Amino acid sequence: MPVILRALRADITTLRVDAIVNAANSSLLGGGGVDGAIHRAAGPDLVHECRLLGGCKTGDAKITAGHRLPARYIVHSVGPVWRGGGHGEADLLASCYRRSVEVASAKGVASIAFPGISTGIYGYPVELAADIAIATVRAVSQRHPQLHEVIFCCFAAADLAVYELALTEPAP
Ligand code: AR6
Repeated sequence: MPVILRALRADITTLRVDAIVNAANSSLLGGGGVDGAIHRAAGPDLVHECRLLGGCKTGDAKITAGHRLPARYIVHSVGPVWRGGGHGEADLLASCYRRSVEVASAKGVASIAFPGISTGIYGYPVELAADIAIATVRAVSQRHPQLHEVIFCCFAAADLAVYELALTEPAP
């Protein structure tokens, strides 16, 4: 069964999926944006579990329990800070999506929701980030047939419009 990709507008902490992805920083100890929202909603045991992980490199991902969230797991991935596009940002962002699917698949996850990694505080242009997110997930999910549904969870209406358009474009 081919994976279903869709975009919706929601607070990612409310989604009843097997795993949600957090746009974290390399400390994995919390922050602002979606990271702060996830830590608040998951409760204090999340940061205790994160302390044991020893941080995370940019482009990589690590997985924890979902604690008080409806999602069973949280994948914490560290996106690149946008510095104009000439500093390997695209490869690092693609790596976030690839590694997130890989660590989630190792736990047998069938449904996963992503925020727009790097598109908030880290400044990555959302149009470019959406194309990378969709292309990378399409490619990597072929190697993980247990993955049935991938949700691109947008916080802003304008971001949802970008994803909806990108999802209708034919894969290159
Ligand atoms: N649900 C879904 N998406 C959200 C939510 C939410 N509750 N809250 C924000 N977003 P950002 P980054 C969207 O800044 O750019 C943190 O301090 C937001 O609109 O959260 O990767 C970390 O600790 C945007 O589209 O992450 C790092 O230091 C997207 O989530 C740094 O920010 C990502 O925005 C990471 O920056």
